[in-house]
Amino acid sequence: MIFFLVLSVMSEAFDDVRFDENYVVRYGNDHISKLDQGREVQLSLDLASGSGFNSKRGYGSGFFEMRIKLPARHSPGVVTTFYLSSHPDNKPGNHDELDFEFLGTEGPVFSLQTNIFANDNGNREQRLHLWFDPTKDFHKYGILWNHRQIVFFVDNIPIRVFKNNTRLGARYPSQEMSVEGSIWNGESWASSGKKIEWSQAPFQAHYQEFDIYGCPFGANCSSESQLYWWNTKEFYELTPEQQRIYKKVTQKYMFYDYCHDRGRNFKECQIR
Ligand SMILES: *[C@@H]1O[C@H](CO)[C@@H](O)[C@H](O)[C@H]1NC(C)=O
Ligand SMILES: *[C@@H]1O[C@H](CO)[C@@H](O)[C@H](O)[C@H]1NC(C)=O
Repeated sequence: MIFFLVLSVMSEAFDDVRFDENYVVRYGNDHISKLDQGREVQLSLDLASGSGFNSKRGYGSGFFEMRIKLPARHSPGVVTTFYLSSHPDNKPGNHDELDFEFLGTEGPVFSLQTNIFANDNGNREQRLHLWFDPTKDFHKYGILWNHRQIVFFVDNIPIRVFKNNTRLGARYPSQEMSVEGSIWNGESWASSGKKIEWSQAPFQAHYQEFDIYGCPFGANCSSESQLYWWNTKEFYELTPEQQRIYKKVTQKYMFYDYCHDRGRNFKECQIR
């Protein structure tokens, strides 16, 4: 595990930002509890309801990260998410979205799915096995989004890179997106599709770190300002060290990649 050297060039988050500063409950108000004076929230899913929250503002770039602890084992069919999404009133087909989707399992193997929508219907799923038990402790899940690349990180380790190849005819998310988290019943969802063991309910996911490093949509967050560090050259591509770890991790843990399956439908799969 030595190669999982921490790469963090990113600022460590302030951990005293409260949920209410940047976020509001989206649904399932009575299934969300604030803990530690609002520095942690617990989302619950039971037969009556799931729950979700979203950021107050919309963003056009940034580094979005949370610490999340997933519901305890025996959670097949339960889906826990952390994602960016363009406005819910977008019609299907012109939606932007960047997703972490944790697929509940029986354990001991845990699967993480990521997906990307770029003014379309997504279908850019990748899945990998996590190298730790995400139900035991909090781990960091982050999304970097600037005009050059989108990178998904797990504990600072890049697990997915999506480059802006619009010049070569590929799509790239560009719409205003808010930051969201949720827990829901995925029994009838294709990526999960398992029966939930309701005797194990309520299923509870915990989220921490409610600060947001984001550029409000439409604002000038020029890369000339260190204030907007995620837009600076340093973040235009992975460092050689990150490249090396990214390659190792995906070789070892990725078990599904849409490019190997439906690559002919996606320009970016033909470019790389
Ligand atoms: C993607 O890159 C092109 C230049 O190749 C740029 O014009 C465009 O703004 C970028 N898209 C986003 C969303 O940053
Ligand atoms: C954005 O801000 C930078 C630095 O402050 C400035 O140089 C640039 O001209 C601005 N761009 C626009 C479009 O206002």
